[in-house]
Amino acid sequence: MRSGYKAIVNAHIVTPQDLGVPLAGEHQSSVRDIKNATLLFADGIIIDVQQGPVDLPAGTEIHDAQGCLVTPGLVDPHTHLIHGGSRENEIEYKLKGASYMQIHNAGGGIASTVRATRESTKDQLVKKGLRILDNMLALGVTTVESKSGYGLSTREELKSLQAAREAEIKHPMDIVHTFMGAHSVAPEYQGNRTGYIKHLIQEMIPAVAESNLAEFCDVFCEKGVFNIVQSERILKAAAKHGFKLKLHADEIVSMGGAELGAKLNVTSADHLMAISAAGIEAMAKSQTLAVILPGTSFYLRKEYAPVQKMIKAGVPIALATDFNPGSCPSENMQFILNLAYLYLRMNPAQILNACTINSAYAVDRATTLGSLEVGKQADFVIWNSDNLAYLVYRFGTNHVKQVWKNGCKVVEEGRVIYDQIS
Ligand code: NIG
Ligand code: FE
Repeated sequence: MRSGYKAIVNAHIVTPQDLGVPLAGEHQSSVRDIKNATLLFADGIIIDVQQGPVDLPAGTEIHDAQGCLVTPGLVDPHTHLIHGGSRENEIEYKLKGASYMQIHNAGGGIASTVRATRESTKDQLVKKGLRILDNMLALGVTTVESKSGYGLSTREELKSLQAAREAEIKHPMDIVHTFMGAHSVAPEYQGNRTGYIKHLIQEMIPAVAESNLAEFCDVFCEKGVFNIVQSERILKAAAKHGFKLKLHADEIVSMGGAELGAKLNVTSADHLMAISAAGIEAMAKSQTLAVILPGTSFYLRKEYAPVQKMIKAGVPIALATDFNPGSCPSENMQFILNLAYLYLRMNPAQILNACTINSAYAVDRATTLGSLEVGKQADFVIWNSDNLAYLVYRFGTNHVKQVWKNGCKVVEEGRVIYDQIS
């Protein structure tokens, strides 16, 4: 017999329906909307989602949502969570007109965060990671992807991945771990990109695979970073070592990144601000999801990805923060929803699907996460609103009333209340 039944009653549940594949085209706009709903769960797993008051098992712990909106916990499928330092010193250059790539090429940008990350101890990275995870949780995120990529040597990349793993053990958040040694050429290999790629393939990828600290491998495919041929070589080597694949594609320059992602059937191709018509077509024919990062467009003051064209072509869309110290220094998923509404012109249902079920697909967690359906994990948010449109319209305020993770309340009125496991 099950014990520990809990129920949220009097809820306005809006949830994706998992169709077994990422939601694309018309499906991207369809949600299940249940007023006066009851959500029953036990041992962290959803047992029932019903309209109206239902007969609850004896002894069920009942929580009244008072008509508030309840959605699945948000899944942020693209962050550079673990890094040392910050880059507010770049604002001056940005405002004088220096581009992201000019700062990068002048030894600022990623290289400066690599220095700060290498100077941090693992424990410092864990501590900083935990603080950010608390912020994310308080904002309604219950699962996050975390990339390494500011270490750029075997030892330093493993340090970052280990820090993410330790933070995950201490925190209620689920973390999906990604190795991104191909984020930039390591300082030791300046002027010797080929040498660094060889080192990545022959040493770093096998060592990270051996460590079991990462599930995905990601590459920054961009003009001046890794080109199409190099990105393909790195991703194929990673696949041979058992990694699932992701790709930073067509972020700044349109160079066929989306086409490469589709060709390799990567789980997700991310950014896509400069995707071409051919790239959209290639992605629509593949299994690859598009992870769109409007916070980066906002912060780099660049074009937004052509999401409406992609939805029309049948490409499933997920949304993420891209939280990192250079191109999107914010972990606020709620702001991403506001940007998606205003600048990607997505409707509230498309947005909800993009930051729950589709983002769960983008990190290969859709069998357990991303929708409030029987058998899935009881990860959900009770919002200070009775409807979904309000969330995407009203910006700059944290709308979270409560966050529940694995069937336990972990945030109350914006305050994190779990006991940290030390
Ligand atoms: O996703 N594109 C590459 N990586 C990050 C930026 C990293 C940084 O500037 O530190 C991004 O935009
Ligand atoms: Fe990124």
